[in-house]
Amino acid sequence: MNWGMQNRMSRIFQPHDGRTTMLAVDHGYFLGPTSGLEDMKTSIDPLVQYADCLMVTRGALRCSISPDHNVPVMLRVSGGSSVLKDLSDEEIYNSLEDAIRINATGVAVSIFIGSANERQTVTNLTKMINEGERYGIPVLAVTAVGKDMVRDERYFSLCSRMAAELGARIVKTYYCDGFADLIKKVPVPVVVAGGKKIPEKDALQLAYNCVSDGAAGVDMGRNIFQSECPSAMIQAVRHIIHDNATVDKAWEMFNTLKSEMAKK
Ligand code: 5RP
Repeated sequence: MNWGMQNRMSRIFQPHDGRTTMLAVDHGYFLGPTSGLEDMKTSIDPLVQYADCLMVTRGALRCSISPDHNVPVMLRVSGGSSVLKDLSDEEIYNSLEDAIRINATGVAVSIFIGSANERQTVTNLTKMINEGERYGIPVLAVTAVGKDMVRDERYFSLCSRMAAELGARIVKTYYCDGFADLIKKVPVPVVVAGGKKIPEKDALQLAYNCVSDGAAGVDMGRNIFQSECPSAMIQAVRHIIHDNATVDKAWEMFNTLKSEMAKK
């Protein structure tokens, strides 16, 4: 790995433990004004200090996130279809040149394995990898779930291993039964999406299961920014990822921070 690539990977994954707490707030690229992200200047900017890396679109960065934050940015560069259409019909909408201007630490591209647009999305990924490798910029492959796909270990292993074989430096996928087996088959760091909002303690359990089974961290969105106390939630998730806290300890931390904030 060249120095620049290694340096960027070390900004995303903390060198002392190889783990990351990524905050995913890129949902607007296909969902528009997602609940919790309507006013990102107010809701997200204060959370950035607790994230190891921010997964975001260039528009949200420009309008809502202060450039004074020293947070590594994982720039979402694939998109094109709204939630009203076939989500797998994506192209690359953000050039690597613009990603470099933004000072992105990495770029994220979705692949939809098993969908009618499988090849198109895999080509989006490989084109971006070819460019990213030239400049030492890691590409994160998001294994978006193709229509009618069974969300099991076999499917997520297929998508994740393909992404790694094609050159993705990081894979983002979903947690599933048998996740530890997936980790054995994927030779690059794997981060896990949080998925739909679930009760806070369940989301902490998910984060705990991910790292216990070998993930390098989470790239969590809705379970943080739609939490009843997003700041407490991201800190509690961090406690699991970086301090190996148990779910009970992280839950205790969440409740303590939440009541302290309520007093302010
Ligand atoms: C969409 C994405 C999102 O960043 C991802 O879904 C993570 O967010 P959440 O934890 O809300 O699922 O990559 O393709």
